[in-house]
Amino acid sequence: MVRLATELEPSSRVPSPVNSRHAASVLRTSPSVDSLHLGSLPLAAVERRIAVIGAGWWGKGLVQTFGDLGTLRAVCDTDPARLTAMPNGAVKHYGRTEDCLADPDVSAVVIATPAVSHFELVRAALRAGKDVFVEKPLALTLRDGQELVRTAAGSGRVLMVGNVLRYHPAICRLKDMIDAGDLGRVEYICSNRLSVARQRAEENILWSFAPHEVSVILGLLGEQPLAASCQGGDYLSRGVSDVTISQFVFAGGVRAQIFVSRLRPFQEQRLVVVGSDEMAVFDEAAPDRLVTYPRGDWKDSSVSSAESAGKPIRIDSTEPMKAECIAFLESLETRQPPVTDGEEELRVLEVLDACERSLSSDGARTDVQPPSRSRRGHKTGALGVRNTNKPTLAG
Ligand SMILES: NC(=O)c1ccc[n+]([C@@H]2O[C@H](COP(=O)([O-])OP(=O)(O)OC[C@H]3O[C@@H](n4cnc5c(N)ncnc54)[C@H](O)[C@@H]3O)[C@@H](O)[C@H]2O)c1
Repeated sequence: MVRLATELEPSSRVPSPVNSRHAASVLRTSPSVDSLHLGSLPLAAVERRIAVIGAGWWGKGLVQTFGDLGTLRAVCDTDPARLTAMPNGAVKHYGRTEDCLADPDVSAVVIATPAVSHFELVRAALRAGKDVFVEKPLALTLRDGQELVRTAAGSGRVLMVGNVLRYHPAICRLKDMIDAGDLGRVEYICSNRLSVARQRAEENILWSFAPHEVSVILGLLGEQPLAASCQGGDYLSRGVSDVTISQFVFAGGVRAQIFVSRLRPFQEQRLVVVGSDEMAVFDEAAPDRLVTYPRGDWKDSSVSSAESAGKPIRIDSTEPMKAECIAFLESLETRQPPVTDGEEELRVLEVLDACERSLSSDGARTDVQPPSRSRRGHKTGALGVRNTNKPTLAG
């Protein structure tokens, strides 16, 4: 399997994650793109109707993936140099988002511009009647995220957020193992995302890196934390944290910790789930992405013997970004919300919002806003599970 390049490393050919269970199962049984189906539609029959807005470091991978899937209609970037490097011919080029959004041949847009522009662009796209897949985070404030989710619901449009790890086969497998009780009772989760990354002036590391970890932890546990505390440091640019450590407590007693940093001379994307029977380690850089350790061994023995006792878990070779893109296409066809829809993202933003408030009060324990206050009129479904009470989206 190709290594997933999230924020951790630039890549000219970005591999693909997504977690529609259906898409994942489709991919498991049909590894060849030509033979993929979206619902009852063969993928080859899906029209070219996607426009990717923002063809930078991450966006070019999305351009390539939707291109490979035969659904790319247009690419839009305000930087002409970016457009020059994009495929052309059947693919239109736009230098202004207004023109791209006015194109009647474009029915859905994929937004991969800097996070600070997400709110305005997503709102404009939804108002223009387009379905939207936006890179994480949906917005840089909870309030803006709530407005976008309301706008999408009001217009019957698909709103999906690119929390790509939710579509990573190792994370999907880990979720299945937790749900099946293979690790026993989950007691503690710890996730690190460390790297020398580009400085983003508009958002701190919490909003830049931690959406991935928050989304994964909420998905794995299927519940929202009661409270968060977060501390950090700003070393490169005053007032913009480069490092944060966040801790969470859940109603069931589970605790979780997220450490994100752009001040590391090496890359690490590693998540550890400690269960009452087994511990599982997801390591994006390791040859075996998912390994479990029997708890008896690591409780009674040295760390080195625990390491040797690790059992690699087989995962499929689905590229997460491809799975993610297929989940979006599937949503467009079925009009069913994807797993990482806007409402799911609000849960992520609620947690980030609590972390941000705690960060500004030097780590004070801060309540996570109850979902009922932010999602009036919506029933709350289990995380990572489609809420069957959700209305079907307009076609
Ligand atoms: N899922 C992941 O693992 C992952 C990894 C990296 C980046 N991202 C996300 O992808 C997004 C883009 O990040 P990046 O690193 O590719 O940034 P980037 O700066 O490399 O690329 C952004 C591109 O958007 C263009 N752009 C900016 N404003 C625009 C507008 N209004 N209309 C059209 N084009 C516009 C820029 O010219 C640039 O080409 C961010 O939201 C980031 O959070 C996600």
